[in-house]
Amino acid sequence: MAAEEVSPNEEAKERLPINRREFLNYAWLVSLGFFTISVAGITYLFALPRFKEGEFGGVITVGTVENLPNISDPPDNYAKTKFWLSHTPEGLVALYKVCTHLGCLYNWNGQEIKYICPCHGSQFEKDGKYIQGPAPRSLDQFVVRIESPEGELIVETDPATGAPIPVPDNPDAIIKVDTGTRIIGKQHA
Ligand code: FES
Repeated sequence: MAAEEVSPNEEAKERLPINRREFLNYAWLVSLGFFTISVAGITYLFALPRFKEGEFGGVITVGTVENLPNISDPPDNYAKTKFWLSHTPEGLVALYKVCTHLGCLYNWNGQEIKYICPCHGSQFEKDGKYIQGPAPRSLDQFVVRIESPEGELIVETDPATGAPIPVPDNPDAIIKVDTGTRIIGKQHA
């Protein structure tokens, strides 16, 4: 009986591990896999908080009401997280440490009981209100939140007014400053 003849094309096809169509399918699947992993990775990175708690840009726990400076004391300087915590007769404010004129770091002046910028002399009240100088507006500030020890919100800064918040009687209430939420100071006339 004569052996069955195999054409050269069929012989070549048999020798290939995969044909062209299969190769393209695999390549497409691999590309799709890479694309899906990339999208998932980017989505995950965006979902992460941009700032860690306790760092500038995040929420800073500054302590309890019991440990607040008195109204007559100088404001507390939070140098690393860039704010002053001022305890005023009307309540608490957290003032962004950057001058609203050209961005210098202003200081508290204990003799004159006000903030004074060393660069061009702008001056601000203890609660951040503009007094005089080339600054176009009062100091910017951050939202202050006071919570019960159980984590319930008692009071927080109203971003619309930026008014100081009253300090509750509970000495264990916890004070937090959200340095990710800046309230722009009011323009003066
Ligand atoms: S930068 Fe503060 S007064 Fe100019």
